[in-house]
Amino acid sequence: MKILVSLLLSLCLSVTSWAGESAVPKLDMGKGGQCVKDTQWMRKNHMHMLKHQRDETVRKGIRGENSLKNCIECHASLKDDSVIAREDSFCVGCHRYEAVKIDCFECHSGKRKSAWLQQRNAK
Ligand code: HEC
Ligand code: HEC
Ligand code: HEC
Repeated sequence: MKILVSLLLSLCLSVTSWAGESAVPKLDMGKGGQCVKDTQWMRKNHMHMLKHQRDETVRKGIRGENSLKNCIECHASLKDDSVIAREDSFCVGCHRYEAVKIDCFECHSGKRKSAWLQQRNAK
């Protein structure tokens, strides 16, 4: 079991990136509202935040507002409820532009699945 967990963790971290340009393409921001931190900070630090959050959850069972699910809840498109489906989808749109390769969504869902969604679809 320990081995399985550390295997998963190392998979979580096996992410490659290259230096990209600094301008950002037009992204589908999703639902809007207020990010968990300010935009400039998020642009620079979201990856550390996610890795830290993953460690907190996997090792200590703590689930907080910085969970991946929470990011997706806001940032998934209002058109297809996804952060990864299209060229301008929030996470993938920027990563593709910056030539950052992440494989989080092989395991994690990139789709919104909240109660909010059920309410909206019931209308
Ligand atoms: C091989 C499968 C796998 C991959 C790839 C993967 N994860 Fe995970 N991740 C897990 C599992 C399993 C858990 C623990 C499940 C739980 O407790 O919700 C987890 C938990 C997390 C959590 C804490 C729970 C949450 O929903 O916030 C975060 C954050 C997270 N992963 C981020 C990432 C990020 C970012 C990437 C890409 C760099 C990534 N993961 C890639 C399997 C994976
Ligand atoms: C309550 C909704 C909400 C949540 C939750 C949220 N965000 Fe945001 N986020 C926003 C909004 C709205 C903006 C754009 C703010 C602006 O334009 O000034 C933003 C901005 C960002 C940016 C900068 C985008 C850019 O153009 O540079 C990144 C990166 C980001 N968020 C990642 C995340 C991650 C990762 C999570 C989860 C840990 C998360 N956000 C959680 C609403 C949210
Ligand atoms: C405005 C652009 C932008 C947006 C939007 C964005 N990212 Fe990123 N992301 C980057 C850049 C640039 C890097 C690489 C930073 C580096 O190389 O140091 C990165 C790196 C990452 C990494 C770590 C990669 C590594 O090599 O360690 C993870 C995990 C990640 N992003 C997850 C997300 C998730 C999940 C979302 C959507 C909720 C998101 N990002 C949205 C620009 C963005």
